[in-house]
Amino acid sequence: MTDGRESLPPGASSGDISHILVPRQEIQRRVEELARQIGHLYEGKELTILAVLTGSLIFLADLIRHLPIKMRISLISASSYPGASTRSSGAPLMGDLPAALAGQHVLILDDILDSGCTMAALREKVQAIGPSTLRTCVLVRKFLPGCPARPEPDFVGFEIPDRFVVGYGLDFDHLYRNLPDICVLRQDGETQ
Ligand code: IMP
Ligand code: MG
Repeated sequence: MTDGRESLPPGASSGDISHILVPRQEIQRRVEELARQIGHLYEGKELTILAVLTGSLIFLADLIRHLPIKMRISLISASSYPGASTRSSGAPLMGDLPAALAGQHVLILDDILDSGCTMAALREKVQAIGPSTLRTCVLVRKFLPGCPARPEPDFVGFEIPDRFVVGYGLDFDHLYRNLPDICVLRQDGETQ
């Protein structure tokens, strides 16, 4: 990670983005490392990745191209940040889960673990379907020491400070998913 004030990625306007937190090269290295660990754990098995839309889209696309195992993709929508908000609503909206997850080795893939509400709710729903195994993976986890009851993911890409981040799939009000780096969103009142 970096606290650097590197030049802003394409697609970012300097009024909205504070700085790059995790540069693209570091993301790629870590994603490849995660793919190696996941590939090793599921060697000889068929894996179903249940990716949480929309935030995990780019993470999913990069990760699976480094996975040397048989695998399927399953998709589900969830959203706990309504509109232009940087506060979790704690009430994730979800689509229907595919019943085909029963008896499968399921890995839930999400972009970020914040309050943990989304992951906890999804985990419970998937568990009820009866997968053969169920694990979870997030690209980033916010460091929230006052939140000990959060679910513990099996795989975490990066531990980050409690700031609102965008880029590499993560959005603010549906914007900035296309930034190649993980960037900190400028907060109201923060100077440029
Ligand atoms: P949780 O349910 O509070 O853990 O929130 C998880 C969801 O909120 C993630 O899947 C993200 O879509 C979204 N989210 C949480 N923190 C951020 C952030 O810093 N930037 C963008 N989206 C976030
Ligand atoms: Mg999400």
